[in-house]
Amino acid sequence: MKKIALLTSGGDCPGLNACIRAVVRKSVHEGLEVVGIRRGFAGLMERDTIELGVSSVSGIIHQGGTILRTARSELFKTKRGQKKAFDNIKELDIQGLIVIGGDGSFHGAYYLNKDWDIPTIGVPATIDNDIAGSDFNIGFATAVNTALESIDKIRDTATSHDRLFIIEVMGRTSGFIALWAGLAGGVEDILIPELKTDLDEVCRKLEEGRQRGKTSSIIVVAEGDEAGNAFEIGGKIKEKIGYEIRVVVLGHLQRGGSPVALDRIIATRLGSAAVDSLLKGERGKMVGLVSSQIKTFPIEYAWKTKKEIDLNLYDLSQILAG
Ligand code: F6P
Repeated sequence: MKKIALLTSGGDCPGLNACIRAVVRKSVHEGLEVVGIRRGFAGLMERDTIELGVSSVSGIIHQGGTILRTARSELFKTKRGQKKAFDNIKELDIQGLIVIGGDGSFHGAYYLNKDWDIPTIGVPATIDNDIAGSDFNIGFATAVNTALESIDKIRDTATSHDRLFIIEVMGRTSGFIALWAGLAGGVEDILIPELKTDLDEVCRKLEEGRQRGKTSSIIVVAEGDEAGNAFEIGGKIKEKIGYEIRVVVLGHLQRGGSPVALDRIIATRLGSAAVDSLLKGERGKMVGLVSSQIKTFPIEYAWKTKKEIDLNLYDLSQILAG
């Protein structure tokens, strides 16, 4: 193997640049040439490439976003789009491709390997942390810290004004960010898609708190919760118990910012492991960290296995909520 390529695809997250840096520098260390593909699979179909060397990735380990940019491509889901990508890979003499991203990106890597015989390796990177095969996906730790900073600030104003705040965090269909940020922020309740949400019970707990003298509360809700979005949930709670409520939707600010140390280390280890994996002749795989050890899995493991959330953390949050 002489030349490999890498791309970032799907929703961005903090730590992508640290991973790009690791892939590039590890590859150079191993005597490989590296081609960066801009804008994910869209750029692969359009041959939007850049040669990468040691100095191209200087000074990026701490930066959010991705120097390669990212995109979600509908065309790449078709055979016509994949054929374009295949032709470009062959013409550029690329012998292996590292795909850094989430579930949708892993599907792209899977089909390039299975249907077009291109060696691909996936690196799990999404704030949602919903990719099985890695305890932590790149970006999750930073997103939790970002949400936590907001929760802490909202706590100040909630207390001053005796208000109930509903804070909505991202996660698509998973509650990892909500659970971790909620537990770390000591919030009064956490609503996640993995658990049935009973708003009568939520109100009962709020009332119980009020009777104990509590004058303000924070509820963190994951965007995919069955009870609706934060505004809908706030409206229903107001109808039931008439609290003064404010809603904050954190949204895309959770996707930006400088990666925390944990994300930089995970990104660095997984990026390097992806190069090792290609050099070993592996293909159609993903790399992950399980109990801090590098592991590889067939890439389809990412969507065939539901990543379990640790509900003990939820139980603990309930025991500790004052
Ligand atoms: O998958 C990452 C994520 O930020 C989800 O948490 C969220 O549901 C989605 O992407 C938002 O996507 P977009 O950037 O297309 O609005």
